[in-house]
Amino acid sequence: MNIALGSDHAGFQLKNNIAEYLKTANRSYKDYGVFSDEIADYPDIATLVAKAVLSGECSCGILICGTGIGMSIAANKYKEIRAALCSETYSARCARKHNDANILTMGSRVIGPGLAVDIVAAFLDTSFESGRHMRRLDKITSIENNPG
Ligand code: RB5
Repeated sequence: MNIALGSDHAGFQLKNNIAEYLKTANRSYKDYGVFSDEIADYPDIATLVAKAVLSGECSCGILICGTGIGMSIAANKYKEIRAALCSETYSARCARKHNDANILTMGSRVIGPGLAVDIVAAFLDTSFESGRHMRRLDKITSIENNPG
């Protein structure tokens, strides 16, 4: 599993904390920036991570901004991206089990690094349950293909 990691300036420090965790957990990741805390626009990084997931270069993504909201709105503009904003572990597990979320977003101004790492671990360690949830995802795909 290769994980696409990205943040804007507000999420830069928390992204570094997550990268450290991924290293110690022996999980492979690719960092799509930003690489400093200079002002950056979250849609630009959401685009890089969404494209990395859609191309198959990475199997899932983690995006961090101040609230996690901008990153989730931007990433979810991409067809077949299911980005889930999580601030606790229960939602992170359900995002995988029920929604087959392929991107996790978090807010660096909302949660601290300890909780963020637990959320990442819950997200990465949980699989999609399929079954009845697949029917609902198929309906989301239908909306994507025929929004009118
Ligand atoms: C940047 O100040 C902030 O607006 C951004 O990180 C994010 O929270 C937007 O949703």
